[in-house]
Amino acid sequence: ALFSACFGFSLLLAIISPPLWANIFHELHILWRKRSAPLRDITMEMLLISIFLATILAVPFVLRTFFPYVWMDVLYFGDLVRILVRFVERRRRRPLFFVLDRFLEQTAAHPDKNFIVFENERHTFSEADRRSNQIANALQSHPGYEAGDTVALFTGNEPAFMFTWLALAKLGSPVALLNHNIRTKSLLHCFNCSKATVLIASSELKEAVEDVLPSLTEQGVIVLLMTKHCDKPGIEGFSDKVEEASDAPLPRSLRSNITPKSPAVYIYTSGTTGLPKAAVINQNRLLTALVVLSSNGVTSKDVIFVNLPLYHTAGFVIGFIGSIETGSTIILKRKFSASQFWDDCRKYNVTVVQYIGEVMRYLCSTPKRDNDKDHKVRLAIGNGIRAEIWREFVSRFGNIQIREFYASTEGNVGFINYAGKVGAIGRVNFLHRKLFPYILVKYDTERDEPIRDADGLCVEVPKGETGLLVSKITDIAPFVGYAQNEEQTERKRLRNVLKKGDLYFNTGDLMRIDDENFIYFQDRVGDTFRWKGENVATTEVSDILTISECLKEANIYGVQVPGHEGRIGMAAVTVKREAQFDGKKIYNHVVNYLPSYARPRFIRLQNAVEVTGTFKQMKVKLVEESFDPGRIQDPLYILDDKEKSYVPLTAQVYSSIMSGNIKL
Ligand SMILES: *[C@@H]1O[C@H](CO)[C@@H](O)[C@H](O)[C@H]1NC(C)=O
Repeated sequence: ALFSACFGFSLLLAIISPPLWANIFHELHILWRKRSAPLRDITMEMLLISIFLATILAVPFVLRTFFPYVWMDVLYFGDLVRILVRFVERRRRRPLFFVLDRFLEQTAAHPDKNFIVFENERHTFSEADRRSNQIANALQSHPGYEAGDTVALFTGNEPAFMFTWLALAKLGSPVALLNHNIRTKSLLHCFNCSKATVLIASSELKEAVEDVLPSLTEQGVIVLLMTKHCDKPGIEGFSDKVEEASDAPLPRSLRSNITPKSPAVYIYTSGTTGLPKAAVINQNRLLTALVVLSSNGVTSKDVIFVNLPLYHTAGFVIGFIGSIETGSTIILKRKFSASQFWDDCRKYNVTVVQYIGEVMRYLCSTPKRDNDKDHKVRLAIGNGIRAEIWREFVSRFGNIQIREFYASTEGNVGFINYAGKVGAIGRVNFLHRKLFPYILVKYDTERDEPIRDADGLCVEVPKGETGLLVSKITDIAPFVGYAQNEEQTERKRLRNVLKKGDLYFNTGDLMRIDDENFIYFQDRVGDTFRWKGENVATTEVSDILTISECLKEANIYGVQVPGHEGRIGMAAVTVKREAQFDGKKIYNHVVNYLPSYARPRFIRLQNAVEVTGTFKQMKVKLVEESFDPGRIQDPLYILDDKEKSYVPLTAQVYSSIMSGNIKL
């Protein structure tokens, strides 16, 4: 540093004032020659000031050379402080300030700006405001509904989803965001764990609603379908009531008893075991989530492409709620389409896109086109991109900044890769770690639990080694848990981590921190795997398979397929005594009960399912053996949508899958 300071100092003087530099050099030279001679005051002062200035100017260069990320750390530090200040300021406002209030601020600021663009529709902020008033007024006058009652929303990605959510926010009603792919048992389960008393569904989902109608009717649930008229007893058409309703604003008093701790939305996650769980996102959490886009440099001038499902955190919290903060325009799509993606970006002048790892891979595997770089996208924000896809994406589609982050719907810690390090999910930052104390602890993947030392405490992994990410549960990093599911909530809590009696949130994610303090995602522990961007809970699939007619036991796991992100579902099953394996029946059962991403693609017929000493099903060996008919003696079947059956898996089909000729 001293050397650089002197060097910087000389360089600076030489640049800004060569005569001055020459003069000082001369003075120094004389000084050197008659060391005892007193310095003239003026020279001394100048010298000191110059050294001081030069040191300040030289420090950044030194840091940049020897600590390349320190600037980004400092900037991020600044961002964190800004976010905190803004958050605290909002929390202090009276009346209380929530996400809805931010929407109303945006509407007042630019009522005629486009808020949502969908297919050929354009909706300005004020239209969204009025439309949501109509929905709210129509619902409020519905007998049996009271402002504040929980409502379940069962609809695909369309403007009505957003309008209805705004309407319910105006009524102070928590909203359960149901996954529109789920049916029957799962649908009922999800509906029930929110304790909703009203179901609002889009007209395309009429049949799915009819399937569960008897149970809903029995519970006295109000079932509203977004259609003009519905002839099915028990389901009411809601659209014309909305059309007729007033668009007058709703009195604030309707939501006056909402506090930061009140549930705002329920988002379903297929965490580790069993049926989906409803993560409770309270008002405070939603307010915190407002910053995700804005803190990454998204502004009101940006146009954001939202094509991920609105019932998940990425689409709803990051995309929709994030845009409310920035006041950007949302381009909403029913679903992600790799082939239309860039045409849409060009058509709508999209500047910011969201992704999950699979999305980036799909985009990179589309055929190359001449206009691949012809678009205005400048930022991609999301999680789960692999390093090799990251590089390919940027080299193919141009200079797009990639902001990879890590967060979970219910978790209490998140990271953002603000330094743009390829492959990392974030970086250890002093302030961040103070605010959200997290550590990586040693994990036993075979026993599926953290390793404990002689005192029963967890052991932090050294840098460079993989460990389980756990984050201390505090007031500013709370873990709210799952609705109606204390057991699953408790499973995510980890006690006695560093001290007896402390309490951490177990993310279930294995991470690694490298020498430069970058954090890398390694794996997810336990009984979940990801396929097509969705979490598949193996126990849920297993439960469904074993209620089929002929199957006795089912051990579900994910296997890797070349050229595909994540793992595809496979089931090792045993058949009931005196029953036969019936591919058609199992196919029908699976299609009825499971969304397509969760259906086991391969079935391996076994005489017995191996279990561990603690009756956990053994998966490691099965995963390893995968679905290779050359290696496995047991009969193998593959799900065949054309035949509508599970058909025997031949060596030929196997090699076509491995060579990429059959896409799964
Ligand atoms: C996109 O930008 C171009 C040029 O800036 C402009 O002419 C066009 O109208 C814009 N399209 C949309 C849909 O805003």
